[in-house]
Amino acid sequence: MKARNYLRLEYVGHRFRNDKETCHVLHDVNLTIGKGEIVSLVGHSGCGKSTLLHLIAGLEQPTQGVLLCAGKEITCPGRDRAIVFQNHNLLPWLSCFQNVYLAVERAFSRRRPAAQLKAMARHALSKVGLQEALDKYPGELSAGMRQRVGIARALAIEPSVLLMDEPFNALDTATRAQLQDELMALASSTDTTIVLATHDVDEAVILSDRIVLLSDGPASTIHDIVTVPLPRPRRRLDLLDDARYGSCRSAVLGFLHRKPEGAGPRTIAEGVRPRMGSDPGSKSATLTP
Ligand SMILES: Nc1ncnc2c1ncn2[C@@H]1O[C@H](COP(=O)(O)OP(=O)(O)OP(=O)(O)O)[C@@H](O)[C@H]1O
Ligand SMILES: [Mg+2]
Repeated sequence: MKARNYLRLEYVGHRFRNDKETCHVLHDVNLTIGKGEIVSLVGHSGCGKSTLLHLIAGLEQPTQGVLLCAGKEITCPGRDRAIVFQNHNLLPWLSCFQNVYLAVERAFSRRRPAAQLKAMARHALSKVGLQEALDKYPGELSAGMRQRVGIARALAIEPSVLLMDEPFNALDTATRAQLQDELMALASSTDTTIVLATHDVDEAVILSDRIVLLSDGPASTIHDIVTVPLPRPRRRLDLLDDARYGSCRSAVLGFLHRKPEGAGPRTIAEGVRPRMGSDPGSKSATLTP
């Protein structure tokens, strides 16, 4: 049976501190995500989507609450969780192949022979259509190609949780759609759990089992969760006329375009909302079209 609470976020909060000020980014985020589930994070710029992904990746430690993956507390990065960064973070002095190989070598070097690791790196690059660009350097690639190398690097280590921070935003429409379809196929064939930050409402609806709507900061939290009841496999052209698709889309757009509550700057205390939409066991205001 699939683990329904493979990833658990309990009362997660985060503040960035420097000498002068504290920035309260996230507050009381409660969420459980199942094995093989695809969950999107949607919210206005600066609400903390990337921060939340970095916390799940173990790149940041929460200043409040706890995160668990497969029952173990997340305290550092691990091979079970790979992240595709918003700005791809490739090493400019390494070729496409070397960038991906480095990640594979770090993840598996002690357990698999070098020839197998090289094949894994090549296979990941071919999955994103870059088999002809193995020896190119990041500086020689278009923005979309760089983004695809970042995706290949994450896929290559065969993570059980794939964290993706606006992974498709530099891609043309056709490549974006192709990679989205491949991502859905990957999730269903390998049971990979995917958490994705996106500003693209259609992308969120097409890909996701659930869409987590994050309130505006400071102290952003889960405002609501939209459940997408569309069966899989999903074919984008069939979805356009599906009333359930339209309902989910409207719910997310309605959230993004709603008027800000109250006038004037919000204090941190005002940013603390009731834990609506939180998991587990909460009365999440789920959309059922
Ligand atoms: N390392 C850091 N130090 C201090 N503040 C930070 C740091 N990283 C992020 N922040 C702040 O945390 C808040 C949330 O940032 P984050 O990048 O998580 O937002 P986001 O939702 O991903 O935005 P976008 O949609 O623009 O990518 C912002 O106010 C940002 O300035
Ligand atoms: Mg971001």
